[in-house]
Amino acid sequence: MSRSLSSGLKKAGIAGAKKHLFLCLGPDCCSPREGEKVWDYLKSESKDLHLEVMRTKVGCFRICTRGPWLVVYPEGIWYAQVTVERCRRILMEHILDGKPVTEWIVAENDLGRATKM
Ligand code: FES
Repeated sequence: MSRSLSSGLKKAGIAGAKKHLFLCLGPDCCSPREGEKVWDYLKSESKDLHLEVMRTKVGCFRICTRGPWLVVYPEGIWYAQVTVERCRRILMEHILDGKPVTEWIVAENDLGRATKM
């Protein structure tokens, strides 16, 4: 494996990640400004809390309304209208404590993982 690939995999946090968070930054489900604000919070807070997660910006999930959208895998839990305040609660309750914020869940699909185990 090349040094640059090894470095990239390490930087992405793939080996130690327990969850992968995808956040849509708009522009159709929310304003890019709104999406960036949540992204900046998600990034800094997950670092500060030393969360074992990977974070990925998404350009569009093809839902295009009621964003910003946050999806958490491996559970496949979809949260809509994620503000900074909502993101804070999702990180604390779902990611840290393992209890999804059920009243904000719009959809769930673990992509068949549960049925294979
Ligand atoms: S722009 Fe966010 S879902 Fe399409």
